[in-house]
Amino acid sequence: MIILGFESSCDETGVALVETQETTLPVLLGDALYSQIQMHQAYGGVVPELASRDHIRRALPLCDEALAKAGKQLADVDVIAYTQGPGLAGALLVGSGVACALAYALDKPVMGVHHLEGHLLSPFLSQDPPEFPFVALLVSGGHTQLMRVDGVGEYAILGEAIDDAAGEAFDKSAKLIGLDYPGGAALSQLALQGDPTAFQFPRPLLHSHDLDFSFAGLKTSVLTQVKKLGSDLESQKCNVAASTQAAIVEVLVKKSLKALKQTGLKRLVVAGGVGANRQLRQDLNTACQAKGIRVHYPELSLCTDNGAMIAMAAAMRLQAKVQQPVRDYAFDVKPRWPLDQIEK
Ligand code: KG4
Ligand code: ZN
Repeated sequence: MIILGFESSCDETGVALVETQETTLPVLLGDALYSQIQMHQAYGGVVPELASRDHIRRALPLCDEALAKAGKQLADVDVIAYTQGPGLAGALLVGSGVACALAYALDKPVMGVHHLEGHLLSPFLSQDPPEFPFVALLVSGGHTQLMRVDGVGEYAILGEAIDDAAGEAFDKSAKLIGLDYPGGAALSQLALQGDPTAFQFPRPLLHSHDLDFSFAGLKTSVLTQVKKLGSDLESQKCNVAASTQAAIVEVLVKKSLKALKQTGLKRLVVAGGVGANRQLRQDLNTACQAKGIRVHYPELSLCTDNGAMIAMAAAMRLQAKVQQPVRDYAFDVKPRWPLDQIEK
């Protein structure tokens, strides 16, 4: 079965085709992606209305591109999937509107997919796919969660960010040292030349007994340090970047290990934009190797938002028979939608 998937929850328009298999994992046939980051950079963050309008411009051309890459035509598609939430309401409406209109015209059924489930299942498209059950560390721009995953649709939240997400902490700190939105990747690039021990930033909730995260205080400390440095910031940028990254990464690594210990599971899956962070991958690999724990990541290109993860999540939900596609095109979107409340 061939699934065409649309992602439009924030500032990336992604379209992809995935094919289910008899006995093995679904495979990616082709994908196309357009990032609006440059457009939003002038405003220092995502402007929802501009995002929606741009999704409208990109969705169908990207669909053609994904089909061409896959060597398929619309008539070959069996199911159309789209991100139903969480995300920006207007942006979600574009993707779901396009997906449902296309499906109606083609007389194909549709499936609404949870964006975070897409991230969570994206490592199944990698060269080294995981097996259930596992602990998942979901680190994106909007979410930081530790989850116990027992199968498709079986997600129990073990802990989550009570304020800023890890990606937000990266982006806000990056902004404070003068990097463009979203500064996570640029900050980690700068950090390569810096000393991670130069500044001692707080590791919030590191020793709390739960598995929750809090990163809001970190940005305040970075702000205080930046003010203190004044005109010396320029020469200390790399050190501030490296020290900020060290604080975020240490908390993510320690809490992941705590979740693994608590659940007794020996497998960790990392997903979401921050999962592309090199230092995080390195430190997790080192810490987990010492404890005989396997770590799985999505391909670097599939860490941030994309259509492949949405088509893949739909394909895996179909294969696991936890969701049936429907011929009901009266779509709704769910801008706020906790992952542990999805249909099983
Ligand atoms: O998963 P994602 O594309 O979007 C959401 O669903 O939120 O994640 C985007 C986030 C941004 O905060 C971005 O700065 C961060 O992921 N990010 C990184 C890196 N690449 C992307 N953060 C740290 N290091 C990176 N290499
Ligand atoms: Zn995302």
